[in-house]
Amino acid sequence: MNRVPKTLLKSASSNPMITMICDNYTTRDDLVASWGFSCLIRHEGRNILFDTGGDGIVLSENMTKLGIEPAWIDLMMISHQHWDHTGGIYYILNAKRNLPVCVPRSFSARFKDDMRRYGAELIEVEKAEEILPGLYSTGDLKGPVREQGAILRTSAGTVVITGCAHPGIVKILETAKKVLPDKEIALVMGGFHLFDHEDKEILKIIARFKRAGVSYTAASHCSGENARAIFANEYGDHFIALGAGSEITRNNLK
Ligand SMILES: [Fe+2]
Ligand SMILES: [Fe+2]
Repeated sequence: MNRVPKTLLKSASSNPMITMICDNYTTRDDLVASWGFSCLIRHEGRNILFDTGGDGIVLSENMTKLGIEPAWIDLMMISHQHWDHTGGIYYILNAKRNLPVCVPRSFSARFKDDMRRYGAELIEVEKAEEILPGLYSTGDLKGPVREQGAILRTSAGTVVITGCAHPGIVKILETAKKVLPDKEIALVMGGFHLFDHEDKEILKIIARFKRAGVSYTAASHCSGENARAIFANEYGDHFIALGAGSEITRNNLK
């Protein structure tokens, strides 16, 4: 937990809890929409970059337009070893050497060595654990591709962030419930990987979400247009249409 020094508290003026940097969708004309996922989490005085999109140029350009500097990042957390989440890693590591990087233990040895060459201090997770105060990893979850999600303990409730959700969005949600059993789930956001699911399967997943008390949902990236539309329909004004440039504050989750 104290492996990550608190280096700085700077952040953009509006101080959102989460800022979307890269996504398949965008909410602003000046930002590039590109296949991939990356967001900045501001939590308990630290800045955490969760995933890096598919392309370092898009990541760097969108960061510049959002007023986010690599030097502000205290921790990078990478969900899984797919190009559309790892594409901007070396842009960040080149700009900020010796950065703590939290990865699933199952990442390939070659990839881990490549990151260490840039001074990355790897935090390898296997089981669910607290990485920083109030920031947890789901652990290295098994699935078609192994993956970790991020879980935030906030005053609005638990916030769950997924890269692609290859182990299954419901498994990730249930893991978050186990990690913080006493908290309501305020938001589940990110890639839900449901583009190949039929409507009835998506509706079953939404029923699980509702039974688990998930208040807000924000399916983006690889969730699929159809799943996004069904989630939007079922969650109404508690669905957040994420895209690059989206900002989520605690007030959005009331
Ligand atoms: Fe992805
Ligand atoms: Fe993926």
